[in-house]
Parts: sequence; C-alpha cells; structure tokens
Amino acid sequence: MSNGAKFPKTGRSWADIEGDLDRLVSNESFWRPENRLMTGIHKGSPETFEIIEKAYMKLFHYNGLLADMEHGGVGRMQDELLGWTADLLNGGKDARASMMTGGTEAIFCGLHAAREWAKETRPDIKGPYQVVAPWSIHATFSKGAHYLGLEVIRVPLGDDLRGDVAAMEKAITPNTIMLAGSAPSWGIGRVDPIEQIAKLAKDRGLWMHVDACVGGFLLPFMERCGEDIPLWDFRVPGVCTISADLHKHGYAAKPASTLSFRNEELQNYSFAGAVVSDWQSGAYKSHGFVGSRPGGAISAAWAVMSYLGEEGYTKLTRKLIDTRNWMIEEIESIEDYKVLRNHCLMMPFRSETLDMLRVLGGLVERGYFPWGTMEPLMVHPSAELVDESVNRKFIADLKEVTSGVKSGEITAEALATYI
Ligand SMILES: Cc1ncc(COP(=O)(O)O)c(C=O)c1O
Repeated sequence: MSNGAKFPKTGRSWADIEGDLDRLVSNESFWRPENRLMTGIHKGSPETFEIIEKAYMKLFHYNGLLADMEHGGVGRMQDELLGWTADLLNGGKDARASMMTGGTEAIFCGLHAAREWAKETRPDIKGPYQVVAPWSIHATFSKGAHYLGLEVIRVPLGDDLRGDVAAMEKAITPNTIMLAGSAPSWGIGRVDPIEQIAKLAKDRGLWMHVDACVGGFLLPFMERCGEDIPLWDFRVPGVCTISADLHKHGYAAKPASTLSFRNEELQNYSFAGAVVSDWQSGAYKSHGFVGSRPGGAISAAWAVMSYLGEEGYTKLTRKLIDTRNWMIEEIESIEDYKVLRNHCLMMPFRSETLDMLRVLGGLVERGYFPWGTMEPLMVHPSAELVDESVNRKFIADLKEVTSGVKSGEITAEALATYI
C-alpha cells in the first residue's frame, strides 16, 4: 500500500517518537478490552495478560525459526507446547503438531498438505483440485486456495446455520480432494457436524480438515465444564488435520497457532521439517510457510499453558461461560433482540423489528468496533474476562442505541468488516 510517504531523511529523538506513539496508540482505543467490549482480543485474565507480556519479552529478540536448533532450550519449549496441543486434541501418541504464526498459515499448510497428499495418493483425481466446505468456512480458505491453485466450493448452510452434509455430498466432484468444517465457525459460532462430514470424507477417500482456530483451545474446556459440544477433534475418525490458534482462546501472544496432523505420515505431506538445500547456504528447514518468526510467541504460549494447565483453563472457561450467559440474558431483556445459541463465547444477536445496520451504526458512533455477519445480519460481541463495568456499559449503550434507532435519531449504518 503506498500513500506517497517519503522515507525519513533524518532520525528523530525517542522522546519525539514516543510522543507520536502515545498519540497513535491511544488509551481510549476501542481494541483495549478495558474500554470496550468487542470480539477478537482474547485477553484471558489480567494475570495471563501479564504473564504473556513478561514471557514474550524474554525472547523478544529471538528468531523462532531457530528453535529447532536448540533442542534443550527454546526448542524444548516449542516441542512441549506442540505435544500438549496434540494431547488436548485427543491425538494420542501418533498425532504430530507444527508451530504456526496464525490461523491463516495453519490453514494454508493444511491445504498444502492435502494437495501434496492428493498428488501422491490419488492420481485418479485430476486438477484443478477442489475443497468442499460450508459457506461459513473462514475467508482465509479462499486466500490459501488462491495461492495454492485450489478452488473452494462453499456450500449453503442448513437451517441450523451449520454445514449441510447432504448438500456437501452433492457438491463433491471428481476434482474434490478435501472436505472441511469449522469448530466453530467465526461469526455464527456453531460447530459444524464434523462427525458426519468426516465420515463422508473417509467414505470418499478425501482429506478432512477441521478449522478449530477459534475452538481449539476453548471447546476442550467448555466440554470439561459440561457444555454440550459435538465431537470435532481426533476422536472423530477421518479427521486428518486441525488448525488451532494459540493466540485466540489459548490466551497466548500473537502470532501463535498450531497445525496438528493425525499422524506423522500425514505430517510428512506438509513441508514441515523438509530440508531445502538447493541454495548457497546449506540446509534450511521450517515448520510452516513463514521463515523468521517471533521467538516471544513461543515463550509466551509455553508460559501461559504452563501457568494455567487444564485446571486453570477450565476455571477460566467456567467464568467466561457465566459471563456469556449473563450477557445473553441482558441482551435478550431488550425485547428487540434474539441471541443465537452456539458453541463458543460469541453472542451473535439479531432483530426482526429493528434495522440491524443502524444498530451497528449506533454502536460504531459510541466507539465500538462490532464484528458481525452479513447473512443473517448479526452483531457478535464476545464474552471476555473484563471488568464487569465494561459489560454493563455495553448493555447500557445497546439500550441507548436501540431507543435511538426506534426514535429515528440514529440513521448511520455500519458493519465492521475486514476492509
Ligand atoms: C475460524 C477462523 N479460522 C481462521 C482464522 C484466521 O486466523 P488468523 O487471523 O490468526 O490468521 C480466524 C480468525 O479469526 C477464524 O476465526
């Protein structure tokens, strides 16, 4: 992106720069969880926030690309956290995981592994290769597919806003290599019928990917809290790969994610650990697509997992579920709204009586950055461990916005998209 800015001719003092930074990174910003309820910060508790910051700084200058060269040090941390991840996903002793920078890289590498697998084991499938997925699968599938020369066939959702297995079956063609589903989908927050989709994939000899970028480090603990969560992990036969973001409900620092494989054989179809040596500087290997990556993301993830353990994550999740339930009651106490029940902490709500674009417009005017979905038109705040006053303020603001839309005072329309 170019805006005609000219490279600085001379340097400036730190005091000057810091002044600018403080102006540009305002304490009032919407993304500070202490100011506004929103979706996408996933701060964990104040203690975990502090821990990841401290742990990150220990490896602030370290290049995570080198972790595998330090078996007893950073490499051990990375190996441990990957082992913990595979265990949490019920992968047993055979599962393998690779370190990723985010959901996008994890999904990209999952698509890539499936493509390589298809080339080798399914010579009967001719290109262009296709991936069949519910309409709600994350945008980054389309992006990854574009880079890899694949095509994503998005299939309309069922009435329950989850993947429609019969429709997915109909969408399979002789070019299909992969089926995918979300656990849960972004925005709607429901877990697709992974057991049925994976069975279909297995019956048709296809690769099955579960996108658990949101749920990977949340659903296991929701299940332990007694929530009714459909099976979605390696307990489901046929699941080949799972993308699970540490920097979402793992409460780790960005950028950190994982891609887990059912076994080493499947992992070998990815480029993880592949040695590139056709250049001047000898052997080079990496986990995913990126090369250099922040070492701090490894130490922060390892630290927060070590700090919380299963018990800590479960306790934290219990609190978040209680917060979510309280918020749902409050939102629905405004008669115009109905909250879609789902399998996570997002609370997508919609209205049959009000113009939701104006509701969104009113929230944006009050400094919120509310993520939403277009079809159906919903806004989805997420339960966070913020001070109760932040949640109460959201409800008070929503009430004010609702009256403003009803009286015609609010006419602005908005929907926070990624653009
Ligand atoms: C379900 C899902 N998959 C994938 C992604 C992409 O993750 P990232 O932004 O870490 O690349 C997201 C991001 O919100 C997501 O919600």
